[in-house]
Amino acid sequence: MENITGKVVAITGASSGIGEATALLLAERGATVVLGARRAARLEALAERITATGGQVAYIPTDVTQRADVANLVQLALDQYGQLDVLVNNAGIGLISALDDLRVEDWEQMIDVNLKGTLYGIAAALPIFRRQGFGQFVNVVSTAGLKVVPLQSVYAGTKNAVRTISEGLRQEAGAKLRVTLISPGFIHTDFAEAMTNPEVKAQILSTRDQLAISPEAIARAIVFAIEQPADVDVNEVVVRPTAQG
Ligand code: NAI
Repeated sequence: MENITGKVVAITGASSGIGEATALLLAERGATVVLGARRAARLEALAERITATGGQVAYIPTDVTQRADVANLVQLALDQYGQLDVLVNNAGIGLISALDDLRVEDWEQMIDVNLKGTLYGIAAALPIFRRQGFGQFVNVVSTAGLKVVPLQSVYAGTKNAVRTISEGLRQEAGAKLRVTLISPGFIHTDFAEAMTNPEVKAQILSTRDQLAISPEAIARAIVFAIEQPADVDVNEVVVRPTAQG
């Protein structure tokens, strides 16, 4: 299918892991990618890699907890390329720990990044998609929301809030817009690095190193959802390692 070439795709959290792999694969398949993340140096390096292989790319430092930053990311796509076909709300953090730990600041951060960050993405892109008469949201959630386990309550809660909002958005979106949820299982990225509970972090890193699959697996799922014809809305894709219970 040739429905990727020429599409303008903005990606949050694009500087590493799933966001980076998605940017690279989409650019390779002919999309124009507009990258947002907090780490400007990493964005610049990624943009150089994409440009070196003939890809089209723009980038802007973006903290998704700042509504204006997310609006600027989307505006960059419009200013440079005149349209926005897809917004991938990928930025996310999983500061997992027991509720008894009372790591309330971690809870707040997860709500700010995972939930409010995605809402800011919707607020930025929805009016543009309406005006254009086309557009697709790809919201990255998690299998943590499908199988809720101890230590992941708040993380899973933020992801399931996005799940619920995405389903409401899909129903409100009408015939012209598309809404896709991507639920990754264990993926080999830097995701655990930010965790604040050292025991939990060590345990997650150990499990990751035993069974996680590469972020390219999720990039392929995102490409699959984007490359469908305009009247085909892939609502949800769940991708786990075969070894994940
Ligand atoms: P990662 O840590 O490599 O990537 C997350 C990206 O989000 C990073 O580039 C990070 O800098 C960015 N980010 C964090 N806070 C941000 C903020 N305030 N503003 C802008 N960017 C911010 O991890 P990964 O695995 O690539 O995570 C991507 C998404 O996949 C997240 O939404 C995560 O919840 C989800 N996910 C990851 C799984 C895994 O096992 N790695 C499993 C299920 C879901």
